[in-house]
Amino acid sequence: MSKKLYFGTNLKMYKNIADTVSFLNDLTAYTEDLGREEIELFVIPSYTSLPDAVKIERRHLVHLGAQNMGWEDQGQFTGEISPLMLKELRLDLVMIGHSERRHTFRETDYEENLKVLSALSHGFTALLCIGETEQEKEFGVSEEVLRSQIKIGLHGVTADQLGKVWIAYEPVWSIGVNGTPATPEYAAHMHKMMRETMVSLFGDAGAEVPLLYGGSVNPGNAESLIVLPNVDGLFVGRAAWNAEAFNTLIRKSAAACAAKA
Ligand code: 13P
Repeated sequence: MSKKLYFGTNLKMYKNIADTVSFLNDLTAYTEDLGREEIELFVIPSYTSLPDAVKIERRHLVHLGAQNMGWEDQGQFTGEISPLMLKELRLDLVMIGHSERRHTFRETDYEENLKVLSALSHGFTALLCIGETEQEKEFGVSEEVLRSQIKIGLHGVTADQLGKVWIAYEPVWSIGVNGTPATPEYAAHMHKMMRETMVSLFGDAGAEVPLLYGGSVNPGNAESLIVLPNVDGLFVGRAAWNAEAFNTLIRKSAAACAAKA
């Protein structure tokens, strides 16, 4: 049997409300026939687009998430968005610790952990993003970095809550216009290590947590990444922002997995 696959895109600080809605309408129309038992599709738009995004016609075909979240329910936290505010929108997931949050906005593992615990306690799926920088890779500490991002980020998460945790491995050096995609060999090595870390922390439940790869995923490398044993999904930026192109990438990736199964 082919593994369950996860495909999602982070719209970052792109697409206004109208463009987000039209992207979601197109994407759900293109992918309507794909069985959601086998394929989970998610889109993470800007905060301002979310109230309109949740009203799209085929809402049931796509999980919608926020790009960040404050960990307190309310309080003196100017500029933050609380889990209760996101719950009002009936969102499915919250992305936590994206590389741009960690590196441009200086978020720490400790803060990501507070957000993960808060998101889970409010019933969201927590999509924890991890990844080493170029410099950490050069120093040969990539594995230690990923392990500690997982250990701190998921500290205090119970085995019961783990069913709502997804992890995206996005090497910082691979993300964005100046990024170089990880080779399938490199991604395979890191995903295996991540899987082992999850199993050592959570036992059998750790084997079930979806591990997604992200960072310059494109039509040329998606198939070679998705077929890797510990890669359950692809988290895509630029190559997904055209709905037709994303649909093609999803179908080709799913076909590559089916052919391998
Ligand atoms: P790119 O696919 O554009 O490199 O972005 C990946 C990403 O940051 C997804 O969160």
